[in-house]
Order: sequence, then structure tokens, then C-alpha cells
Amino acid sequence: MTINKNSFSTSAIHHGFEELELHGSLIPPIYMTSTYAFKNVAQGAARFSGEEPGHFYSRISNPTVEILETRFAKLEKAQACVAFASGMGAITSVLWTLLQSGDEILVDKTLYACTFAFMQHGLTKFGINVTCVDMTNHSALKSALASKPKLIFFETPTNPNMRLIDIETVSKLIKAQNTIMIVDNTYATPYLCNPIELGADIVVHSATKYISGHGDVIAGLAVGTHEMMQRVRLEGLKDMTGAVMTPLTAHQLMRGLKTLDLRMQKHCENANTIASHLAAHPLVETIYYPGDSNNPYHLLASRQMRGFGGMLAFTLKSKNKLQTGIGMMNQLKMIRLAVSLGDAETLIQHPASMVHSLCTPEERIKQGIDDGLVRMSVGLENAEDIWNDLKQAIDYANTL
Ligand SMILES: Cc1ncc(COP(=O)(O)O)c(C=O)c1O
Repeated sequence: MTINKNSFSTSAIHHGFEELELHGSLIPPIYMTSTYAFKNVAQGAARFSGEEPGHFYSRISNPTVEILETRFAKLEKAQACVAFASGMGAITSVLWTLLQSGDEILVDKTLYACTFAFMQHGLTKFGINVTCVDMTNHSALKSALASKPKLIFFETPTNPNMRLIDIETVSKLIKAQNTIMIVDNTYATPYLCNPIELGADIVVHSATKYISGHGDVIAGLAVGTHEMMQRVRLEGLKDMTGAVMTPLTAHQLMRGLKTLDLRMQKHCENANTIASHLAAHPLVETIYYPGDSNNPYHLLASRQMRGFGGMLAFTLKSKNKLQTGIGMMNQLKMIRLAVSLGDAETLIQHPASMVHSLCTPEERIKQGIDDGLVRMSVGLENAEDIWNDLKQAIDYANTL
């Protein structure tokens, strides 16, 4: 009998840890230590110089976090991974490592609001030129690439309006130049998409979301080549952000990873059910969900992803879409009105008054975020229970 140790679910449960080497402990120990004792000064020096592998201070590495990093790199089909205290910690540590004053970078027009703020209001303060382009428009992207940016950054699917960017095509467009491609794979997770296989150089995640899956941690991950990740660890993480993941968080994420495939299957199934109900409801104006065969990204999603994910967004028909959307959300009984996503609980939020209220109305228009847009992270509850709650709230909003 051959055991396929490379399959997603087996790797998510076993990879990177040998129980019998550590007292048979089935679960990796949580090494709650900030520092590591050396045998002598020579060993300390060898650890610092990198001549001898091993840990020397937990702002750089920790044995529990290292197991998570090894496991996650395998799931993302990358050489190496670095863990962070948050998704923003991952994004900022990677960018601070790669950029210097005077550099140009190209980012997609829709970004998670804090990523957008970091790029537009943070990096620009340090002399970095940030240009936004619609990366679904390949001729616009080609023209923007003429300035040979140091790196390009995008999410796919995008938060919150579910645009999809063709990773493989973008990779072909930047092939002839030294531009580094960074993809935020938070929405898809490595279960549904592996951007490295499609040509990305670095993949970042808010592990707060599906990787944890239980709404109880804030965490981030980045993957790439050994060389690139070593630079990110020793420059961006160690010296610039210090956004270190705790060993307890690594333990919680490894627990989350064990069920990522099962949870994603159910998230996908439930989102599909909700999207079909929404499509049939007379008060729904537009649904943003790549599983819908009429969605402009449906073909790309079918090629690039192994499922359509658990996220969707929609607007309601109304003379005042904003007020109707808010009225609908205030009427929900089970679905929780909260930001974040990827949890067992179905969560709903209104980007224009919550996460993307950080952007000006003009910035939201440029990003393609309608003020009436409602974003939904479809959870793991019974799909008909989710729909019944949503339906009664939509029907109520119609009476306002
Ligand atoms: C797509 C995306 N990237 C990055 C982040 C930032 O992650 P965190 O909140 O873990 O810092 C978020 C948070 O919502 C997100 O949705």
C-alpha cells in the first residue's frame, strides 16, 4: 500500500512534524519561550551568523511556528513560509523588505481597505510611487507595466467586490522584466488556488480568515522562495515590523489547517446555495459571485480555482440602495453583522460604512465598490437556515 503524503488533507494534518521524535506527543508542543540557550559562545555566534541552523530569539523563529511554516509552504506549493502576527504584518513586512525610496509599484484598483491605506497613504510617505490599475484589463496593465515597476500586488478574488485577476496571464506579461508578483490569496486559500504554480513570486494571506476558520486569532502568512523568505524574515520581520506570530497562534492555525479542506468544501457548497436563492429573488439587483455562470469571471474562476469559494456580495433593487441594504442588515436574526470572514458563523458587512469607510467616496468609486454593496462570508451553518434569515431581512427591507 502506498500512502500519498503529498495530498492536501494528509499534508495539512501531518507534514513537517514527527511525533515519535518528541515523546510521541501527537500535537506539536507549544514552545512558549522568547530565547534559546547556547552551549557556549561559539554556538551562539554560529547561530547568529547562520552557520549553524537553529533558533536564537523568537522574534526571528520559534519551533512551533516553524512547523506551521513548513506545513503551510507545502500546502501553497512554495519553498518556504514566514508567519506573522497579522495579515497586515505579512503584507507590510514583505513590502518593507523589497522596496526602497524611489521605487515604483503597481497595484490592482481594488484592495482590502487597510492594504489600500498602507500603499496609498503609508508607502507614498517614504518616496515610493504607487500606481493603481485595473488588472483585469490586460491592455491597461500592459501600458502600466512599461514603467517596469519593482513589484505588482493584487488580490484575487478581490475584497469586497469579487473581481478575479488572471494570475497566469499577468505572469506572462511581466516575464520579460524583473517585476516581482505578489498575490493576496486570502479569499481562495491554498485549497482552492496555488498562485505560485501560476507564476506568482510571493503569496500573502490573512490567516485570520479561512486558515484559522474559527474567528479566534489574528495572523498572517507569506510564502515564496527560500532566498526571498529568508530576506523577509531577517529584514522586514526582524528589523522593520517585528510583527511576530506567537507559538499559541501557530498551534491554533495548525488546528484550523486540519479541517481546511472540509470547511472549504462546505463554504463553497453553502455560498452556491445562497447565490442561487439570491439570483431567484426579485429584489436582488446584482450578485457578485464567480460560481454564477453569468458572472464575468466565471470562466477564469473555473480555470484558476478548484471551487468558487465562500464569499459573495450583492446589491438590492431600490431607489436608495444604501438605506435598503442597511435596513436589511439591521433585520438579520442569526447572520452576524461583523467584519472579517472565513469563520464558521455567516458574517455580513457593509463595506461603504465599515471596512472601506477608510476610503473616500471617490476612492470607492475608483475601486469599483458600490455604496449599496453588501458583503457576505457564507458560514458553515445549515444553508437553508442562512437563506431563511437573509430572505426575511430582504423582504423586510422592501417594506421600508
Ligand atoms: C484580503 C485581505 N488581505 C489582508 C487582510 C489583512 O489581514 P489581518 O486583518 O489579518 O491583518 C485582510 C483583512 O480583512 C483581507 O481581507
